[in-house]
Order: sequence, then structure tokens, then C-alpha cells
Amino acid sequence: MQRHFLCHQQDVLEAQPREFELTTEQASLSLFLVRYENKLYAYQNRCPHLNIPLNWQPDDFLSLEQTHIQCSTHGALFNLKDGHCISGPCNGEALTSLPIELSEDGKIWIQS
Ligand code: FES
Repeated sequence: MQRHFLCHQQDVLEAQPREFELTTEQASLSLFLVRYENKLYAYQNRCPHLNIPLNWQPDDFLSLEQTHIQCSTHGALFNLKDGHCISGPCNGEALTSLPIELSEDGKIWIQS
């Protein structure tokens, strides 16, 4: 396991997710951070429908109304705070949530 610095928490604003690519000795990990109701969440950037990235454009993970995470390929909608799919071909499945650490100086870290 390795600890990776992602960014400072002030750099993730409501309705403005941020995408990251981490490369470890074993594999690479694509993920994004999203802030919702002032809480930060991290999810793997992988749609449970076809196991492909959710976005086509950089950092573009939200529905038009910015109320859900949306897959760009077939439009599945996921809750921001738990990653559960509530509409689309993977209804009932969920994004993979990743635990994050916040250090006292406001930096966001992830283990992989
Ligand atoms: S690949 Fe995401 S909804 Fe089909």
C-alpha cells in the first residue's frame, strides 16, 4: 500500500469534480473527487455497466442539473454521496467508493 497526495481540499469545489490518475507498482488507478453538501467523496472512474471510464471530457462527471454523477456512455445516474446507481442499465449497482484521508493542513490523500 502506498499513500498518494491528490490535492488540497480547497481545490475541490461543489459541482466541480476533479479527476486523477495514479500509477503504482502494481497497476494504475483512475479516480475522481467530488464535493457534495460540503463533504468530499472519492470514487473509481469506472462505470459498473461496462467497466469503462465514466467521462468523455476531463473532469466531466456530473449530470446537467449537477445533482448526480452521470456516465457519459449510456447515461446511468449515480448518487453523489454513496455512488449508488438509481437509473440506467446498471440500476442497483454502485460506483466503487475509495476512502480518503484529510491531513491537518487540508491535503487529501488516498491509499492504493
Ligand atoms: S457504460 Fe456506463 S451506463 Fe453503460
